[in-house]
Amino acid sequence: MELFCPICGKLLEKVDRAFVCEARHSFDIARQGYVNLLPVQQKHSKNPGDTREQVLARRSFLEAGFYSPICDALIDAAKSLGLTGPILDVGCGEGYYCSRLAEALNAELIGLDISKEAVRCAAAKYKDAQWLCATASHIPLADGSVNLLTSLFALTLPEEFSRILADDGYYFQVLAAEDHLLGLKSIIYPELKHRQKDTVPELAGFALEKTIPIRFTFTVEGEQIHNLFSMTPHVFRISKEGAERLKNTHTLTDTASCVLNVYRKAAK
Ligand SMILES: C[S@@+](CC[C@H](N)C(=O)[O-])C[C@H]1O[C@@H](n2cnc3c(N)ncnc32)[C@H](O)[C@@H]1O
Ligand SMILES: [Zn+2]
Repeated sequence: MELFCPICGKLLEKVDRAFVCEARHSFDIARQGYVNLLPVQQKHSKNPGDTREQVLARRSFLEAGFYSPICDALIDAAKSLGLTGPILDVGCGEGYYCSRLAEALNAELIGLDISKEAVRCAAAKYKDAQWLCATASHIPLADGSVNLLTSLFALTLPEEFSRILADDGYYFQVLAAEDHLLGLKSIIYPELKHRQKDTVPELAGFALEKTIPIRFTFTVEGEQIHNLFSMTPHVFRISKEGAERLKNTHTLTDTASCVLNVYRKAAK
């Protein structure tokens, strides 16, 4: 897959252990195999995206297989549409879902995340993919170069996603539903506020093909409860009392509830 310079937009060429453009902007290939294409002007903080602690918690939880029904739903949906690569996973995290999806479809994979820790962790484990530390708002790939784009519990930028998708390309979006992890929430918060959530957003430049609900119950114990919690946005909102209650929880049976929205790139 061709990569483009995040500073000047020119094609990058691989020269030894780096990618270099005509204007001599150079980006080293890290020891683990990923490339950092995130220039300072595209960073909003020193270390944007998930922290190492979040990444490791996610890896431990996902590898234990608790969320494998989500992975299965992605693979089934892609296979039933006869999709092929290249696949781009935006906000790929440590690579659990996209590496399995790409393997099941025997497809070329590009994983992109703004967190260096996430792509480092992904690259160290999954060698058959191109891992990029970059921002979803400036994807360093050519127009129309990707057949399947995925964003799982991560952000959606319709204009940029539409740009890099081929004309008959698909976008798979996974979002948490309103009743996702109510068990965890009821431990953290004294009362549950009902928040209306748009789980099937209309996206400019895309036509919704179908929405597949994914719902399953699982039980977690000990450290995995903390790992699950670290993967959620509740880490930024929890009170001292909530954290204490969570610490004293040793077993949790909960229901994951999400949607897989399958969008097709609309003709212009
Ligand atoms: C909730 S996590 C989901 C990770 C992975 N898709 C999964 O489900 O395991 C969201 C991810 O989006 C990444 N992220 C946040 N802002 C981003 C941006 N502007 N561009 C690319 N990735 C971003 C974070 O670093 C994080 O890894
Ligand atoms: Zn350049």
